[in-house]
Amino acid sequence: MKLAHVAVKAAALAGFAIAQSVAPSETERIIPTLSPQINALPSLTPTIYDDSAPDPQKCPGYKASNVAENDHGFTADLTIAGANCQAFGTDIADLTLEVSYQAKERLNVRIHPKYIDPKNSTQYILPADLVEQPEWDGKTSASCSDLKFEWSNDPTFQFKVLRSSTGEELFSTYGHVIVYEDQFLELVTNMVEDYNVYGLAENIHNFRLGTNYTQTFYAVDAGNTIDGNVYGTIPFYQETRYGQNGSETTAHGMYARNAHGQEWLLREDTITYRTLGGSFDLYFLSGQNSDGCSSALTTISQFQVGCIGTPAMQMYWTFGFHQARWGYENISVVQGVVDGYSDAKIPLECLWNDLDIYELYRDFTNNQATYPLPQFTQFIEGLHAKGQHYVPIIDSNIYASNPDNASDAYGPFERGASLQTFIRDPTTGDFYYGDNWPGFSVWADWLLSSSQAWWTDEIVQWHKGTPFDGIWIDLSEASSFCAGSCGNGRLTDNPAHPPFLLPGDPLTFDYNYPEEFNVTNATEAASAVAAGASQASALSASPILPAATTTVQGRTEPTPGVRHLNFPPYVINNVQSGHALGKSSIAPNATHNDPYNTTEYEMHNLFGLQISNATYHALLAVFPGRRPFTVGRSVFAGSGKTTSHWGGDNTSTWGSMFLSISQAFTMMMSGIPMFGADTCGFAHNSDYQLCSRWMELSAFFPFYRNHNVKAAISQEAYRWSSVAEASRRAMAVRYSLLGYMYTLFYHAHTQGETVMRALAWEFPNDESLRETYSQFMLGPSILVTPVLVPNVETVQGVFPGIDNGERWYDWYTLSEVDAQPGENVTMQAPLEHINVHVRGGAVLVLQEPKLTTAETRTTPYSLLVALDCNGAASGDLYLDDGESLMPNATRLVQFSYSNNCLSFTSEGSFHSAPPLSNITIAGLQSQPQHSSLKAGGQECDFSELTTAFEDGVLRISGLDKYTSGGAFEHDLELSFS
Ligand code: GLC
Repeated sequence: MKLAHVAVKAAALAGFAIAQSVAPSETERIIPTLSPQINALPSLTPTIYDDSAPDPQKCPGYKASNVAENDHGFTADLTIAGANCQAFGTDIADLTLEVSYQAKERLNVRIHPKYIDPKNSTQYILPADLVEQPEWDGKTSASCSDLKFEWSNDPTFQFKVLRSSTGEELFSTYGHVIVYEDQFLELVTNMVEDYNVYGLAENIHNFRLGTNYTQTFYAVDAGNTIDGNVYGTIPFYQETRYGQNGSETTAHGMYARNAHGQEWLLREDTITYRTLGGSFDLYFLSGQNSDGCSSALTTISQFQVGCIGTPAMQMYWTFGFHQARWGYENISVVQGVVDGYSDAKIPLECLWNDLDIYELYRDFTNNQATYPLPQFTQFIEGLHAKGQHYVPIIDSNIYASNPDNASDAYGPFERGASLQTFIRDPTTGDFYYGDNWPGFSVWADWLLSSSQAWWTDEIVQWHKGTPFDGIWIDLSEASSFCAGSCGNGRLTDNPAHPPFLLPGDPLTFDYNYPEEFNVTNATEAASAVAAGASQASALSASPILPAATTTVQGRTEPTPGVRHLNFPPYVINNVQSGHALGKSSIAPNATHNDPYNTTEYEMHNLFGLQISNATYHALLAVFPGRRPFTVGRSVFAGSGKTTSHWGGDNTSTWGSMFLSISQAFTMMMSGIPMFGADTCGFAHNSDYQLCSRWMELSAFFPFYRNHNVKAAISQEAYRWSSVAEASRRAMAVRYSLLGYMYTLFYHAHTQGETVMRALAWEFPNDESLRETYSQFMLGPSILVTPVLVPNVETVQGVFPGIDNGERWYDWYTLSEVDAQPGENVTMQAPLEHINVHVRGGAVLVLQEPKLTTAETRTTPYSLLVALDCNGAASGDLYLDDGESLMPNATRLVQFSYSNNCLSFTSEGSFHSAPPLSNITIAGLQSQPQHSSLKAGGQECDFSELTTAFEDGVLRISGLDKYTSGGAFEHDLELSFS
């Protein structure tokens, strides 16, 4: 059946559709040749739910011997202490233990097989050139470490990591055996009561992970499943212990450098770490500063600086607002979107295109009917002329052209094939042909250097007609829609339709709306329910696809000498239906072209890291010397050095919006601070309430993009008047603070600091904040209290630190908050308003919000000084050209206010032209009587300035005249008496 036929049925249903902006698209591709069975894999029982599964803790464990001390620790042999137990693989009898005091704050414990023949090894030891591997700093030894390693052989090898200064036990396998098999490793640590563990990104879960939670890691294309594995794998956790009886709160961290499919079982008294192979390569972080105190923020910085690398510095413009959607059908539609923003006077920095620009979903093409060149090139150049930007999608698969059809020739595939650059199917030795949007497809093998050259060339060529400013990398798990190399021998069916209906195909209109839509929009909700029911019954009356059937498969028994790659004995709780590893991704036995024929079993979680790295380097070829902007879906530890990340396929629901905050926290911990969620929700329809609140919330996320699925209603910020107004107001705050955001990124890039922050990180001694993510901080000084539920006009939030003298000021009025310690304050929150507060003690540098970041950056500066309880404040501003990888000139300006005197010092030679126009000081006890001000190197005449004082806020304006050579070229001194 051709889809063209079912389109007729869809048209008959159109009467039910409400506000449908995107008509279901037609395609000439044929479904039946690719039956849904092609994606059917047996259904497995995840081991954590399998009562018949063996208990690996019954394995014999190991005994340590031959301890050999070295300058920074010791090595020892670990020998199996009994018969093989074959829990979920074949036991490896001889191991090597390496304990290294790598740096004062970092201890490394490695356990790997003693005998490794890299050409014929069952264990894949993650190479340092793929994922950074921290080493000894050349000076630290046990005697000067923050940490202490203790071990025992009684009854078998077990170890502890302690804090040297206090003996605090941070990690302990005592009472548990270590299990080391070719397809299964297990380590158990004892935990303190009611422990507070955070991180283990990527997950869609509460911020505090809790003591009854399993984190599965296996990169997957399955939306934003709550508590399931999602796109990224960053095996790092941070633990906080609140001080008892007046003692200090402590914090530490642990990173397990292993890329295999894995599970972390957080249970009441223990955490069990299990992986499907590789080695134990554990990094314990003390979280301690030079003063010996430990904190979550220091732990996170130690993880980034010492273990995985700090995040890439981003271009200034990337902090503007981005609009994307799947379903922008042609150039006039995107032009309409750009005009819509401009007419509504809502800033639009960057327009994004999804698959719609492509010819038959194929990367690097331009659909000549809908996005023809050269008109499309001119459209993008038009954006550039107005200071705006453009980013298109690139999917991770490469369409494999139909060999029997000369007109189906596809250059990127043919050029890659001639270099033999794709992943292979081990059963045929040919390329691995999976399936994706365009039909049967292949995937680059990033272990080959030819892949980079080919990828770079394709991107460079494509840029000539599609002059993009950055690249959006999708489906990088890597996602494949069928089981195994299903295109083998079937390329002549190409372009084959995927084995399911695509959004936008007939009968796929999305009729779901946010929670309580039936309360606010009763009539529309009723008609959506009716239309959804009609669509479902039309589809079931004449199904376009036959229903898939699956079989059940029992546990794969471990077999000595054999590794079961596709169905390993230990079944992780993969969120895909049936739980098989090969479901919706390249099969684990797909093979790379390196000398060791590394398999996807070992590399799966790294594809996203590799394609993003490759794209980063390709962008360097397009824009030599310019910071590449690439946003990727699948990430691994260290991805932040080259890529940004979005939260993937969330839904237009209030719950999804709420969870985007905890997801963001984990990305800040993971060194990927350029993070944002699909604002207003990807799947399903948004509504004016949710979209207003979400546009407000995301204005305080580093990456700010509205994106939407095809087959749902449009949700650009100008579509509803309340959303437009909410967006204008929230963006005004964001754009005023662009310099602050950019400076936070500079600190993230240079020191591994976080950009968005949990209240628990900023106020580490307040245990009541340990779970909080309904409020958050942007850097140390901005508190955001978003509305996260429908149908309210107020919001509750706390103002931490008040008992210790902390002061808070309303962003909009600068009036000081009057709250009691621990009080849940009710704030007014009309639909278009988001509550933002400035923390006392901050000096913020502001500019006037305009419609683009470039324009904003040319406006005069203002200083906002928010005084703390000592009448003091400080802050800083980092400046450079906003785009160079190695800027010729930079400037770091440091502001300080104390003893009634405001001044700054400035280092570096970057010239920022705008003058300093205004100074506002909030939190003064009384109006200053005598003031003197030196700005721009000159004594200012107060009679020429405008000053006003009200409610503790002093406003001085008119300084431009003195600072016309640039706000920070000369010292500033303002003093009062
Ligand atoms: C994936 C992406 C989504 C994109 C869609 C179509 O689902 O996560 O953002 O719109 O593919 O390309």
